[in-house]
Order: sequence, then structure tokens, then C-alpha cells
Amino acid sequence: MAQELNSVNLSLDFLSVCEAAAIAAARTMGQGDRKYSDHVAVEAMREQMDTVPMRGRIVIGEGERDEAPMLYIGEEVGAGARGRGDGDFPEVDIAVDPLEGTNLCALGANNAIAVLAASERGGLLNAPDLYMDKIVVGPSSRGAIDIDAPVKDNLKAIARRLGRDVEDLTVIVLDRSRHKKLIQDVRDSGARIRLIGDGDLSAGISAAVAGTNIHALMGIGGAPEGVLKAAALKCLNGEIQARLVFDPERLGVDGDKVPPRADVLARLNEMGISDPDKIYDTNDLAPGKKVIFAATGVTDGSLLKGVRFFGAGKRTHSLIMTTESRHIRFIDTVHVEGGPDTVIRF
Ligand code: FBP
Repeated sequence: MAQELNSVNLSLDFLSVCEAAAIAAARTMGQGDRKYSDHVAVEAMREQMDTVPMRGRIVIGEGERDEAPMLYIGEEVGAGARGRGDGDFPEVDIAVDPLEGTNLCALGANNAIAVLAASERGGLLNAPDLYMDKIVVGPSSRGAIDIDAPVKDNLKAIARRLGRDVEDLTVIVLDRSRHKKLIQDVRDSGARIRLIGDGDLSAGISAAVAGTNIHALMGIGGAPEGVLKAAALKCLNGEIQARLVFDPERLGVDGDKVPPRADVLARLNEMGISDPDKIYDTNDLAPGKKVIFAATGVTDGSLLKGVRFFGAGKRTHSLIMTTESRHIRFIDTVHVEGGPDTVIRF
């Protein structure tokens, strides 16, 4: 019998996993090579992951086994993985994005983060590597949104919940041609927009935290990012509604740029998804009872500072939270590498 998952105990181990990935990626910041930045983050995350006392299984990772050498879907990770566990370790499902915002890191732009979510077995949706339409809000607007409602109606409902005018809302949208109509609809409603080049995961988390001056995230981004976001929102009492998108017209691309619909439907069926139009809510994406979310800043961002390097070490800034505890921890870690004379700055 596997040990029961104690998410609070494991959270510090997962923090170290994100820190390792963020430090490795941050070393490559601004070098203009997004693949390399991603590669070093994956390697560092993978190595640190094996120190975590668990029998882990990757459910969202770098791709299928034949396309990703590390952190592929189904890979067993952790100190008790690959036959090393004798039942003394909890079974854990893990979703990772070792470097969310590969371009952001390669360019030295804001909001690149290293992220993971974990839960007991079956607690995170095994989402396909497709696009997903999403609307994300914080706790005050939970229950007020409807992904199928007109944009202006959702914004009015959010404004009402926040006790402000629609003109005082800021909505984050990925700057993509597929969002032309969405952007126009937000502008027509009078709300302000922040267009971002990449990184709808950290943007979604910011939308759920008061004080960031971001009140909603809307639009189409990656489905794996949707699951990671749901894990964070579950800890933050926020809400996501989402739906898979693979229709070329909705994605604003030619039909030959995406896999044929029949192939996608067959793949979804294989994954146990019989309704491709299903609307997912926070609990569908992250149904786990014990969900852990950890993220470390790679570059500076609205929630987390990026990694800072100095002579005798480095400093990381992370967010770690679980549904089991009522603690949202922002952790500032100094990784000391110098000798006994090292001075630690406040
Ligand atoms: P990477 O971390 O893989 O670079 O993804 C960044 C990202 O901007 C995500 O935040 C977002 O969900 C997705 O890419 C959008 O995909 P696309 O760039 O194809 O529109």
C-alpha cells in the first residue's frame, strides 16, 4: 500500500524542483535561444524531481515519450520511482512546465516562470496538447462568468462583483491574430487591455490575486497551461472556465496548419474525452483533493521576482500553496554558495 500523500510536507520539495529549473533557465536569459533555455530548465527540473520522496508520474509534461527524452507523459519520477519504491512513498500525479514563456526568457522579457502542480493520482486532467479557450477570474468574480456569454456581459458581471466600472477593469489577452474579435469586444466594452506576447499561465494567476490590477484573463492559449492554472486557482479560490479549441477558423489559421478534425477526435477519444466541446471548470481541470502548486520566477514579473545572481550565490522568489493548508507562501530563498564569510543581504 502506498503512503497517503501529505501535500504540505511535499510542498517544500516541490519548491526546490521549481527553484532548480528557474535558476538554470535564468542563466540563459536574453541569449535568444528559447529551445536551449527550455532544455536546461527541463534537465534541472528532472534531476531535482528524483530527490522528492514520492512515486511520481508525469501527466502533463514535455510531450509524448517518443518526442521528449525527459519529463514525458507517463514518465515515472521521484525517489520511489522505477522500482525503487517499496510502498513507503505516496503516489503523486505531476503536471510540469519547466519554463513557461520560453520566448520571454530568451528575450529577457517579464513573467517567465518555472511551474509545477501535483496531486494524488487522478487529481489533474491529462489534457491533450491542444489549444484551450479560457476565462479566468479571482475569488470575487467566482460564479459570475460564463464562457459562452458575450464579452461585454462577462465584463459587466466582473465589474459589478468588484464594485467598480467596466472602464476600471484590466483584461489580459495574448497578442495573437486569433484574438482580433475578442480584443475589439473588450475595447468596445470600455475595459482596458494588457496585451502580452506570451505567458498566459502567470497572467491567469495574476488575475486571481488582488492588487495586481489585472481582473480577468480571456482568450485562447495552451490546454496544459489551463490545467496548471486550474491547480493554482483552486488554491487561490479563483475560477477558470475553458474549452478545447482545434477548429482552424477559431484559431485563425489555414486548415493545413492543424491536424485534421477526425484525427484530433480519435486522439481525444483515446484519452477518454468523448465530448470535444465540453466546458471545463476549475474542478474538472484539477479535480484533486490535495493539490499542490509551485512556481518560481525566472524573469521579473507581476507576482514573482526573477532569479538574481551574485558572487556568493543566487536568490529566488517563489509561490507555493496547497489546497490542504490555508497558507499561500511567497518564498524568498538565498542559495548560498560562498564560504563562511558570505554576507546575506536582507
Ligand atoms: P511556451 O512556454 O511553450 O513558450 O508557451 C508560452 C505561451 O505563451 C503560453 O503561455 C500560451 O498558453 C501559449 O504559449 C500560446 O501558444 P501560441 O504561442 O502558439 O499562441
